[in-house]
Amino acid sequence: MSNTPIDMGRRRFLTTTTAVVGGLGLAATSVPFIRSWNPSAKAKAAGAPVEIDISKLEDGQLIRVEWRGKPVWVVRRTTQTLQQLKQVESQLRDPFSEEPQQPDYAANEERSIRPEIFIAVGICTHLGCSPTYLHDAFNEQVEGVASGFFCPCHGSKFDMAGRVFESVPAPLNLVVPPHYFVNNTTVIIGLDHGEVVA
Ligand code: FES
Repeated sequence: MSNTPIDMGRRRFLTTTTAVVGGLGLAATSVPFIRSWNPSAKAKAAGAPVEIDISKLEDGQLIRVEWRGKPVWVVRRTTQTLQQLKQVESQLRDPFSEEPQQPDYAANEERSIRPEIFIAVGICTHLGCSPTYLHDAFNEQVEGVASGFFCPCHGSKFDMAGRVFESVPAPLNLVVPPHYFVNNTTVIIGLDHGEVVA
């Protein structure tokens, strides 16, 4: 791990190389780098936000970062994946995000701010295992659905918006953490737009 101070206005950032590639068959060169604030003790206790450069995130790719000790996924959904979201609605437990598993700005069909970028805490809502991302092998779990997340512990299944399928142990959709886009290629995990680090 290397720490290199980067001057970004009045804030001080540290570059970290803790990104973990969660997608399948990805070239090492395609891993976006991850930067996080150098947090104060108070911010550490609260869980410092994480800044992610998604400029190199490719269609279908998932990267995993850590926020508050939890895995957080950032996925670039394809057009085909977005079309799939509507097709599976009738098979889902909470297709319209009525349970408070996401901020208000993500309580939509895609459960996201930008349709193509999906961000979720990668922890199953049953007993806390981390589901596996199946980019093109989810058909084996749900017929006719190419992509999704499968929890190997007890077989819960989630679509590409983290919405749980019916008849599985997990009771709720995956959690969408607070986040916002600084610009087209940078997203902050752990803060809502306008919120600042104390
Ligand atoms: S922990 Fe995921 S199905 Fe039980």
